[in-house]
Amino acid sequence: MRFFKGSILLTLTLLATFWASSLSVYEETVSCDGVVFHDVYFDKKLLFSNYGRPYNLVMHKYTGILFFSHTIQNGTLVDFVITACHLEKNVCRDIAGVPGGYAIAYDSSNDDIYFGGHDGLYKYNFLTRSAEFFAEKGKSIWGIFIKRNFYYIEYPEQKLYVYQNDVFVKVAEAINIEIDNFFISKHHDIYFSNKTALYKIGKTKTNAIIMNDDVLIRQIVEDGYGDVYFCGSDGVYLEAKPYVKTKKIAVVENMFGITFDENDKVIYSDEHAIYRLENSNYSKECLDALLNVNERKLGSRDLLLSWM
Ligand SMILES: *[C@@H]1O[C@H](CO)[C@@H](O)[C@H](O)[C@H]1NC(C)=O
Ligand SMILES: *[C@@H]1O[C@H](CO)[C@@H](O)[C@H](O)[C@H]1NC(C)=O
Ligand SMILES: *[C@@H]1O[C@H](CO)[C@@H](O)[C@H](O)[C@H]1NC(C)=O
Repeated sequence: MRFFKGSILLTLTLLATFWASSLSVYEETVSCDGVVFHDVYFDKKLLFSNYGRPYNLVMHKYTGILFFSHTIQNGTLVDFVITACHLEKNVCRDIAGVPGGYAIAYDSSNDDIYFGGHDGLYKYNFLTRSAEFFAEKGKSIWGIFIKRNFYYIEYPEQKLYVYQNDVFVKVAEAINIEIDNFFISKHHDIYFSNKTALYKIGKTKTNAIIMNDDVLIRQIVEDGYGDVYFCGSDGVYLEAKPYVKTKKIAVVENMFGITFDENDKVIYSDEHAIYRLENSNYSKECLDALLNVNERKLGSRDLLLSWM
């Protein structure tokens, strides 16, 4: 399976039967500039633009709010800020009170959202729409992960901490390694990445197996079915079960984050904007065209036939 990022223009020659039973031929130009995701062609809808490097996309499905962090220029320095966007209302607000806001996590057991920045951990208050200090003052937070336990990764040492008996302690198994992304799946498998590679520790295993040592991982998420997706800087990867390897299922240049909305539709970001993948009316035509584009130049005759 190959993927094409490029946008190509298809000229579909459509036959339409009009009243008076005359047959009329008209042409319609379709731009196949969407994304092939797991063998299906989708249109991409621009949701929000003019955000630098939108990282850590987290969709809060009950309120329809998308949280993400992004870069801002502060004088000559680049800093981070967390923004909340209501998808339906199409409005965004920066979350105040989280200096250097970067990490975002959803605690699905308690329906809470947490943030991390230069100066500790914060909890989002949905009523006041503000962040409230939670813990670890003075610590710089790179990442947060919550499932049964509360984990965070400290910056710049990239050490993994877990909350145990009222305090955060370093995770013993990870004391000598750096961790950049940490994730535990619904099926209790552990995935993590660092500068060396992306690893999996199977549910009943203790050793970390290399899944991919070739790609820069920026986010690890799972969909409603518990399938785990790895956002790499060049696209999306999925575990090629039963092998502990990844397979690339979408090409997105300069990808920064991924999440799923309440209907399990893909929301993703590149270096400037956030998009949602939508079902396309030309799913089949565009997939065929993108797959064939290098093999032969598509004549309108082929399309005419495939359309009929
Ligand atoms: C910009 O940086 C200064 C100094 O570090 C800091 O006090 C200020 O809050 C920052 N501004 C923003 C908008 O983050
Ligand atoms: C990444 O994790 C692996 C597996 O635990 C470890 O062998 C490797 O040294 C780590 N890399 C860094 C940079 O810490
Ligand atoms: C897809 O087709 C439906 C039904 O014909 C139409 O209402 C809709 O506007 C079309 N969508 C696009 C993006 O063209």
